[in-house]
Amino acid sequence: MGEETLGIDIGGSGIKGAPVDTAEGALTRERFRLPTPKPATPRAVAKVLGDVVEHFGWTGPVGVTFPGVVVGGVTMSAANVDRKWIGLDAAALFREATGRPVTLLNDADAAGLAEMRLGAGRGKGGTVVVLTLGTGIGSALFTDGVIVPNTEFGHLEIDGHDAETRAAARIREEEKLGWDEWAERLGRYLSRLEALICPSLIILGGGVSKRADRFVPLITGVRAPIVPATLVNNAGIVGAAMAAAAAAHPREAAEVRPS
Ligand code: BGC
Repeated sequence: MGEETLGIDIGGSGIKGAPVDTAEGALTRERFRLPTPKPATPRAVAKVLGDVVEHFGWTGPVGVTFPGVVVGGVTMSAANVDRKWIGLDAAALFREATGRPVTLLNDADAAGLAEMRLGAGRGKGGTVVVLTLGTGIGSALFTDGVIVPNTEFGHLEIDGHDAETRAAARIREEEKLGWDEWAERLGRYLSRLEALICPSLIILGGGVSKRADRFVPLITGVRAPIVPATLVNNAGIVGAAMAAAAAAHPREAAEVRPS
């Protein structure tokens, strides 16, 4: 077994964490979930993070995901969360709340890192985009296995709309779209994205990717192969732990690249 790092995924409804063997990408203890506080203010979320760290009696580094842009520990956007996050040094707040070294990164970037190292993107070079389809649309962009952090492709404008307000998995449920209707919207979105970044592979993540057989075959007008993510539920936790381990031991960062 390799070294363990605690990964915590901040989501819209739950904050989930588990220690991860970052070499294997496996959770080493059962994951612990607490509801995301409402409203999800920085102070309330920091308190829950402290509870998760305490639950595991964790004394080492912690990786944490955030559903927005994160630059140098500062949260810079808040599409689906409380606006108090914008411009906040959230990493410092979390360090204070947990008493541990904290690495903070975008949720889709975390899921993408895990997917590239251990899932559907393993060993894939070229331009790979991992999209998480959930409440919003998150994106992670890789070129020969190296991430370009904080891409926000979920907010491409399509027909005058923010893409995630048309094609996120939440919208399929809210608007009670059939798989075919949703696949048509996804196809429109993906072909627009393809025209801009020309990916060699598109990996679709988020809980809905477990049902990829229902909608991926219905997507038309996209040249790049489209495959479902394989880690799905724990990708954020695993990717967060990987990022924290890489920050603690920079040599590990190289392993994120495909061999
Ligand atoms: C945010 C992204 C995030 C995605 C998934 C989008 O609304 O802008 O930063 O990765 O939702 O949570």
